[in-house]
Amino acid sequence: MSSIIKLENIVKKFYVGQPNELEILHKISLEVEEGEFVSIVGPSGSGKSTLMNTIGVLDRPTSGTYILDGIDVGEAEESELSNIRNQKIGFVFQTYNLISKTNALKNIELPMLYAGIERTERVKRAKELLELVEMGDRAKHLPEELSGGQKQRVAIARAMANDPAIILADEPTGALDSKTGRLVMDLFHKLNSEKNKTIVLITHSNELAGETDRIISIRDGKIINVKNNLRYKEKNISRNRELMSASNESNIEIENSEEGGEK
Ligand SMILES: Nc1ncnc2c1ncn2[C@@H]1O[C@H](COP(=O)(O)OP(=O)(O)OP(=O)(O)O)[C@@H](O)[C@H]1O
Ligand SMILES: [Mg+2]
Repeated sequence: MSSIIKLENIVKKFYVGQPNELEILHKISLEVEEGEFVSIVGPSGSGKSTLMNTIGVLDRPTSGTYILDGIDVGEAEESELSNIRNQKIGFVFQTYNLISKTNALKNIELPMLYAGIERTERVKRAKELLELVEMGDRAKHLPEELSGGQKQRVAIARAMANDPAIILADEPTGALDSKTGRLVMDLFHKLNSEKNKTIVLITHSNELAGETDRIISIRDGKIINVKNNLRYKEKNISRNRELMSASNESNIEIENSEEGGEK
């Protein structure tokens, strides 16, 4: 088996042992193969972020087993878990979570600093990553000087800093307009197809979910449906791009002036 993520009967409870104990995830079992791009969809409050936090080792499950790239997370020491978070996983959030007082380049350097990589190497790699997300001309900008889409591209570059095997993205396009969301989604496709990153994407967009290899539907803390989408993936990507460019043509003046303003 080459599952990089293997969850078995994962239960997550909050307020364990207290009168208000809450079971949020009910025996979730899920395997993700290396290089797969899967999406998780479901109503608000269904447990998507709770599941993502478990997969990202930000939180431990109450019971069940989680094997991440061959490591039994339940058996691991806290220091080993923070290494895993730093080395194996890149996180992307809806609200970007960049450090506001420091520029784009330094934000990308940060995970490498924690990993003990020396400065010259850090700067070199951070610059390459800025180029990868087409933000090379914004290295010295503070987050507040960037648009939402630009901030998210910096956040994706930061997620890639230590060349993680897995990228976990919780509603990465949720705060962006559809055109900008399209650019961010294309970036995920690029990281998946060119860099073989395993990607788990939480989204409320059925269109975007339809562009991934597998769509996992969650309701009330249970997986209620898994749709294998590989056959339709490429078709959906190109259809969605066409839809986007058709809807953009009717706005061409506004877009031109926005682009002009950015330069
Ligand atoms: N730290 C916590 N303590 C107590 N309850 C929590 C905690 N985190 C999440 N929950 C509860 O777990 C349930 C699932 O929350 P979660 O954030 O996983 O939903 P979601 O599917 O990501 O929703 P959304 O689409 O709105 O982001 C909610 O009822 C929430 O109140
Ligand atoms: Mg959520």
